[in-house]
Amino acid sequence: MTAEYKVIGDVAVITLTNPPVNGLGYATRVGITDGLSKAAADPAVKAIVLTGAGKAFSGGADIKEFGTPKAIQEPNLLSVIRALEASDKPIVAAIHSVCMGGGLELAMGCHYRVAAPGTSVALPEVKLGLLPGAGGTQRLPRLLGVETALNMIVSGEAVKSELLASLPGQKLFDKLATSPESLFDDALAFAKSVMGKTGDALPLVRNLPCKHPQGDAYFQFARNMVAGMSKNYPAPLKCVDAVEAATKMKFEDGMAEERKTFMALMFTPESIALRHLFVAERAASRIPDVPEDTPKRTIQSVGVIGAGTMGGGISMNFLNAGIPVKILEMKQEALDRGVATIRKNYEAQVKKGKLKQAKYDERMALLSTTLNYDELKDADLIIEAVFEELGVKEKVFKELDRIAKPGAILASNTSTLDVDKIAAFTKRPQDVVGMHFFSPANVMKLLEVVRGKQTGKDVLATVMAVAKKIKKTAVVSGVCDGFIGNRMIEQYSRQAGFLLDEGATPQQVDRAVEKFGFAMGPFRMGDLAGNDIGWAIRKRRATERADMKYSKTADKLCELGRFGQKTGAGWYDYLPGKRDAIPSPVVAELIEKHRKDEGITPRKISDEEIVQRLVYSLVNEGAHILEDGIASKSGDIDMVYLTGYGFPLWRGGPMHYANQVGLYNVAEAMKRFAKNPRDDASFWQPAPLIQTLVAEGKQFS
Ligand code: 3HC
Ligand code: NAI
Repeated sequence: MTAEYKVIGDVAVITLTNPPVNGLGYATRVGITDGLSKAAADPAVKAIVLTGAGKAFSGGADIKEFGTPKAIQEPNLLSVIRALEASDKPIVAAIHSVCMGGGLELAMGCHYRVAAPGTSVALPEVKLGLLPGAGGTQRLPRLLGVETALNMIVSGEAVKSELLASLPGQKLFDKLATSPESLFDDALAFAKSVMGKTGDALPLVRNLPCKHPQGDAYFQFARNMVAGMSKNYPAPLKCVDAVEAATKMKFEDGMAEERKTFMALMFTPESIALRHLFVAERAASRIPDVPEDTPKRTIQSVGVIGAGTMGGGISMNFLNAGIPVKILEMKQEALDRGVATIRKNYEAQVKKGKLKQAKYDERMALLSTTLNYDELKDADLIIEAVFEELGVKEKVFKELDRIAKPGAILASNTSTLDVDKIAAFTKRPQDVVGMHFFSPANVMKLLEVVRGKQTGKDVLATVMAVAKKIKKTAVVSGVCDGFIGNRMIEQYSRQAGFLLDEGATPQQVDRAVEKFGFAMGPFRMGDLAGNDIGWAIRKRRATERADMKYSKTADKLCELGRFGQKTGAGWYDYLPGKRDAIPSPVVAELIEKHRKDEGITPRKISDEEIVQRLVYSLVNEGAHILEDGIASKSGDIDMVYLTGYGFPLWRGGPMHYANQVGLYNVAEAMKRFAKNPRDDASFWQPAPLIQTLVAEGKQFS
């Protein structure tokens, strides 16, 4: 049982004790009902306080139990709440820190609620592709009014308890505690004040009225708003339906509606994907051979080498987190340019009202610059973001080795170079690590943490903690060409090229992939990032990996100087100052001529084939990455694609998607693609890991 029972005077106290956030798993639910039975049976007990130990009242139903028999094993959450309502002795919920989802539903089943100020209160189920399934949609509107409740349910966002307590007419909280520290005493005092009440004198939320003055018109308006924002997600509209049911149906009928929808949503691919994402995101921060209690180094100041595109964005992350940054460049003009860009970015945020002037001033005050390496001697972490040339990196890392204090972490933002070689430029390879940010580095969530052969475990643990501080999703990658994300995207881009050779147009490929849900198709993406980047990689490959086959269309495009948006033309044409991709007759002609030169008769290619070839290329390379130990789990690969490459969230990432399609089907499709003479047969052999999983009837996990 993960709930404690004790009696203080004439008050029984039931405390949830299921760390980290008192998820309402089976053992906790049993603990609550067991406590209720004891309290009911003890004539000395006159009232009950229900609270949570540690850092939450409760974070809700146990997400990790979903889909297992335990999730519905009695007493399920509905039964627990019924037991609370049925108590003849007053029950007071003492709420603090986090009160979310099933946790809030539990509290709403109590007769009274006392909340600590600063508590985050939410029904966040919609973020998991669900709706509240234990009465949240029926009780919250009764306590906060229909509109406030619906906003909270549809957005899933947390609202602070003091704000909710200040809403006119709110009935959610009977009392706001004076402080978090006084919560328990305040709740005990409240319990004493209602002792003796019993039966009908005990208030039940279910008995409160629930109406909206504009009725149908309001819900129509809400539906229109929500539909516009939730294209690929079924849950938000279902939330509107459920709250409408609260206003139109008897309480028990509304509950039945809610339950039916909750169970149906639980098995939608969108909810399964979002739950996978929730777990994978948290799991990514754990490294199998780096224990949680590994000592971390202190990071209180950061040096950044290079004030270009990446150096500026990287610096902003630390300034935003209140960590001082000193940027080093070779020339004063480069520093001035870099600082001006940072200023411009912040000023744009101030103009849009997203950043307060005072915060902006505070952040800029944390920024300093230098042309002299010696001035970085006190930095705890130094991140290099200079030109992508090993010779330049060598010079920089030798300088860093000379000046950095012992124990400083030396990181490289390289996107393609060998981190072990970079580490070897120093006499302290254990302190060297890759921190591969994505552009724009102040916006993109993903950080690939590249673990060199000798990178220290404490260095890794520290960098993962730093990533959390600067609000990045960090995923550990081993050293290989392209690390996880770019190694996979190369296969995806190769497929996009073959599709052009065989008969597709850039706009058809982009459209198909965008319809699948990617933020951007490969050709629009190429135009945005710069087609010259891939060109440089292919030139390098020509000597390093002559076996790697590519369509020649991209090289021919680059030979015309069509590098993308930055040159005003790429796979598409662009009007000056605009980003709209306009199909280009020059490109159409280039592709047609290319096919003629290669003797290819174009064929009609279906959108389905386009999506399968592009997505399964990610899956196959992802499987090789797992086999090679570059990523330690498939969820890490999904996180890379969801946070760095615009893979649709509601599909859960390429590896999760492959699981959903069925690995057998994915492998069969690969074998079909291998027979296409214009494609790369050797690439399409399903990775041994896929073959093994298929043979054993298993999935990526
Ligand atoms: N069930 C199980 N585990 C949970 C959980 C939950 N509801 N909420 C959080 N956890 C776990 C996390 O998985 C993580 O575990 P790990 O360390 O093993 O990876 C640990 O708690 C800490 O989580 P965070 O790193 O997110 O910690 P934070 O302190 O940053 O945030 C939080 C805490 C605000 C509670 C955040 O975890 C959160 O938003 N959780 C999700 C809350 C939620 O969605 N609740 C609704 C659940 S569905 C439901 O209740 C259905 C009901 O209506 C029937
Ligand atoms: P950039 O060309 O915009 O900036 C590089 C900066 O480094 C320039 O300002 C230059 O003056 C400075 N510099 C060069 N040599 C230096 C030296 N010896 N000492 C101090 N400063 C020096 O390049 P960008 O795009 O910022 O890339 C930097 C690094 O980040 C590269 O390793 C690149 O591969 C990597 N990267 C780039 C991404 C991108 O999308 N641009 C994404 C992820 C990583």
